[in-house]
Amino acid sequence: MRKPIIAGNWKMYKLLADAVDTALALKPLVANATHCEVVIAPVFTALKTVADRLEGSNIGVASQDCATQNSFGALTGEVAPAMLKDVGCKYAIIGHSERRQLFGETDGSVNLKTKAALEAGLKAIVCVGESLAERESGNAENIVGGQLSAGLSGLTLDEMNRIIIAYEPVWAIGTGKTATPAQAQEMHSHIRSLVGKDHGNDVAASVRILYGGSVKPENIGELMSQPDVDGALVGGASLDADSFAKIVNYK
Ligand code: PGA
Repeated sequence: MRKPIIAGNWKMYKLLADAVDTALALKPLVANATHCEVVIAPVFTALKTVADRLEGSNIGVASQDCATQNSFGALTGEVAPAMLKDVGCKYAIIGHSERRQLFGETDGSVNLKTKAALEAGLKAIVCVGESLAERESGNAENIVGGQLSAGLSGLTLDEMNRIIIAYEPVWAIGTGKTATPAQAQEMHSHIRSLVGKDHGNDVAASVRILYGGSVKPENIGELMSQPDVDGALVGGASLDADSFAKIVNYK
């Protein structure tokens, strides 16, 4: 059985005090959520404090990005995965569509970041997803397939066991338009079969595939009822502890 993951991506929101308040408010609300892994991804500057305050809880902390290498170097502005692990992160989100669209992230850099994150002992949440134009031209499966095989290229079986995939159709992010549960299921099942071809059936059967894009308390139940949807990557609705807790406690 694949244990679901509900992850909140806080993007560039919240000063430190607000991040800590939200994390502490969330803690008791999800304390009984044994059915899933709970993850939050604050901004870099809040990671250590939030991770410290959540120590011993069932909430794991993720970064929203990381550098392509762990060895220290003259790389102004970058943060190595080993440094993220050092301050209490357990996961790194890699290749989010906002990074691909706004900050020049490529499949090649996603691959390097994924390898570096795994090398540092983090689990990597690797994001893929097509734009509206790509979906409308009938290319969604090819685009997502290309991102997936390039992003995960060269990973060993052991490394693949620490990979989490997030399917986030770009047209559904922050737009209020969710993919229908059937659309999510269709792409998730495609992703699982591609993982099977590239990395073998055992990895395909066990890899968790999260859906992201306007997930809310109102639609999480239906999304989670799809056989290949193993959790959610939640943006806007994760900023408020009550709303995120409702998503976590979808059962
Ligand atoms: P959203 O964002 O839930 O606000 O649509 C999802 C994401 O970007 O991870």
